Amino acid sequence: MKKLIVYYTRTGITAEVARLLNKELGGELEEIKDTRNRKGVLAYLQSAMEAALKKQAKILKTKNDPGEYDLVVVGTPVWSHNMSTPVRAYLEENKTSFKNTVFFATCGSTGASKTLRDMENICGKKARPLLEIKKTDMKSGKYQEKVKQFVRDLQT
Ligand SMILES: Cc1cc2nc3c(=O)[nH]c(=O)nc-3n(C[C@H](O)[C@H](O)[C@H](O)COP(=O)(O)O)c2cc1C
Repeated sequence: MKKLIVYYTRTGITAEVARLLNKELGGELEEIKDTRNRKGVLAYLQSAMEAALKKQAKILKTKNDPGEYDLVVVGTPVWSHNMSTPVRAYLEENKTSFKNTVFFATCGSTGASKTLRDMENICGKKARPLLEIKKTDMKSGKYQEKVKQFVRDLQT
């Protein structure tokens, strides 16, 4: 079974979860890159506003064709209770190519469940399992067990 894990990250948290997922699940790992500088307060506010408006960022062409994979795992940070704008762009671009997708989201504290539902809605079908990681999970190390459970659920 060919697996692809795709994620966007601004400050490295979603990347850390994606790397652990990759270690546990195997497959290819790919980062979505966008063309914007997301550093600083102004960029933070713009990112928050654009995510709330459900805008799509301009992203660089990804190297792996998701249509060639049996399973694509897509991860996003939560921005304003929405998926990040680069991940929205990736899903919109590739939603007709996916065979099977599951999703994960990292957040400070709230908005992950709604974000994961929105990701399902873009792709037009229920995705199970789903994985939500909060800041407290990262701090306590609980995210590691959550990732392992997610992978076990995927494999049953
Ligand atoms: C523009 C912006 C908006 C955010 N909005 C939320 C939010 O609505 N709820 C939340 O819990 N965290 C929010 N966060 C925090 C991020 O979701 C969280 O820190 C995430 O794990 C960062 O992942 P990353 O390091 O991969 O970028 C926001 C962060 C940014 C940059």
